[in-house]
Amino acid sequence: MNSFFTNFNQLPNNEIITKMREKAQTDKVPIINDDSLALLLLLIRVKNVKRILEIGTAIGFSSINMALVNSDIEIDTIERNEIMYQEALKNVSSCKLNNRIHIHFNDALDRDNIKLLGSYDLIFIDAAKAQYIKFFNLYEGMLNDKGIIVTDNLMFHGLVNNSETIQSKRLRNLVKKIEEYNDWLSHNDHYHTSFLTIGDGIAVSVKI
Ligand SMILES: C[S@@+](CC[C@H](N)C(=O)[O-])C[C@H]1O[C@@H](n2cnc3c(N)ncnc32)[C@H](O)[C@@H]1O
Repeated sequence: MNSFFTNFNQLPNNEIITKMREKAQTDKVPIINDDSLALLLLLIRVKNVKRILEIGTAIGFSSINMALVNSDIEIDTIERNEIMYQEALKNVSSCKLNNRIHIHFNDALDRDNIKLLGSYDLIFIDAAKAQYIKFFNLYEGMLNDKGIIVTDNLMFHGLVNNSETIQSKRLRNLVKKIEEYNDWLSHNDHYHTSFLTIGDGIAVSVKI
């Protein structure tokens, strides 16, 4: 987060959250950055969000932060990596949020085998970047009228729109996929999307 506002934005905090931040740093677990988190929590408050679907749990950092906004928020979150999943279970349990955060150990592309609550006010897409269009299409049908879809990392460390300068073919292809998603989303007539240069680039899509 831009250090200018670091002390002003009041993000949820407790011992577990501090430990998760430390773990993310030492083990290089990609968690949402503070600017994007501040926006996400603001949207939850302003839209009075109660039901959330998250694609990409990692160690449960964003889920726990979202759940702490209000005691009547319920979250389904999907993670395919077993080590992350186990760590998320532990963290959610330490925060005593097991009854409100449901972690599904699955590949999110395998939607039919995941038992979800459905009817979400907010869907947060934060998993494999190359699959963003697929995730969007698979889950948008579970969004309530006037619901919102938030997608993170759309500038991908400043590499998006600079893909020709990338040496690694794998990385170049990944960045191209994100560029494709940005273009596709901007032309999706069922949503009004704002692309914001907050954090690593975030899109907020409001269902029309
Ligand atoms: C950026 S991290 C999520 C960070 C988390 N939302 C946070 O801010 O605390 C992305 C996670 O998505 C998971 N992931 C990637 N592709 C997935 C898929 N197809 N299904 C489920 N999880 C996936 C990865 O294993 C990784 O843990």
